[in-house]
Amino acid sequence: MENRKETRILRVDPAHPESAVIEAAAEVIKRGGTVAFPTETVYGLGADALDAKAVSEIFDAKGRPRGNPLIVHIASLAQGRGLVAHWPPAAELLARKFWPGPLTLILPRASIVPDEVTAGLPNVALRFPAHPVALALIEAGGTPIAAPSANLSGHPSPTCSAHVLADLAGKVDLILDGGPTEVGLESTILDLSRPRPVLLRPGGVSREALEAVLEKEIQLYPAVLQGVSGKNKEETGVAPSPGTRFKHYAPAARVVMVTGTPEQQADKIINYLAEHPGVRVGVLTTVENSSFYQAKGAAPAHLETLGSRRSPEEIANRLFSALRKCDEMGVDVILVETIPVAGIGLAVMNRLSRAAENHAL
Ligand code: TXA
Ligand code: MG
Repeated sequence: MENRKETRILRVDPAHPESAVIEAAAEVIKRGGTVAFPTETVYGLGADALDAKAVSEIFDAKGRPRGNPLIVHIASLAQGRGLVAHWPPAAELLARKFWPGPLTLILPRASIVPDEVTAGLPNVALRFPAHPVALALIEAGGTPIAAPSANLSGHPSPTCSAHVLADLAGKVDLILDGGPTEVGLESTILDLSRPRPVLLRPGGVSREALEAVLEKEIQLYPAVLQGVSGKNKEETGVAPSPGTRFKHYAPAARVVMVTGTPEQQADKIINYLAEHPGVRVGVLTTVENSSFYQAKGAAPAHLETLGSRRSPEEIANRLFSALRKCDEMGVDVILVETIPVAGIGLAVMNRLSRAAENHAL
């Protein structure tokens, strides 16, 4: 039924991509194929954004609903301006400050952008990535590249080529292996097509940093903190964002967020382990709490330290790979300690609450 492809894998130097490798990947893009490549956030699955047929291969490979639009990756401001109907002053300000980097802007699209990319919406998502491999590929391909995260639809995003291979072997033409990604969570998505900017997805650029540049408060799309702040039912009158309708970031095991002070979180996890002796439990902890479990003689099936609470960047960087590792270890339930929603902590808690579908302990 399914068209299996031969998936080639090419190693590439992440800092100084070899031109022969980039040329080979650009050839695939030019003939309408699919290439998974590293960005500074997560791996993307790219195709020529101006070729509707090539773009449709992305949806097939991921099993992605066609109603979920794709981000278009560019390698210059001029290339971005050619894809929008209107370039507002806020876009100029933010682009000058954060591009290239992990920020995606939603803007009114130009007619050159195919419906397949925007899922028929009047807006296009633009991202100017900071990764040398992504930039070299866009330049050599001579076209903007549409790219969602390179995972099967619903799975955690890939932060290394092994994750891509696990999900998409036989479904894409080429994987460029440029090592692990730096940020580990996807870009921040800011919608500039509305009367006032709305943060649709927190990510590599913090809400605080955006507000400092725009000199105004940025409204959070209501689903962002679902289950984290208790504000999930709040009516804000903001129209829905396409991506939030779909299940996301979910490993096979059931994910449960553990709330409270760090001490309370450790106690809850210890109690859970004691009360569920037959369940294979994975625990994703922090440096501050990790020794607690050993001290109490608790032995979860898999214990992984994401990083220090003082460095939420570290926790962000390891989260997706830790969720995938728990699946490899065959655990039934993953208990994850929660962190405050400041800075990139907001992005961490957003991904976690969606992976957990709001299950909390
Ligand atoms: O860091 C990232 O953004 C990564 C790397 C590969 O660039 N890409 C990524 O793409 O995370 P994806 O497809 O996994 O997530 C993009 C999100 C989806 O939730 C989608 O619904 C939303 O962006 N999106 C895309 N185009 C949109 C549009 N025109 N309006 C509103 N939301 C849009
Ligand atoms: Mg994705």
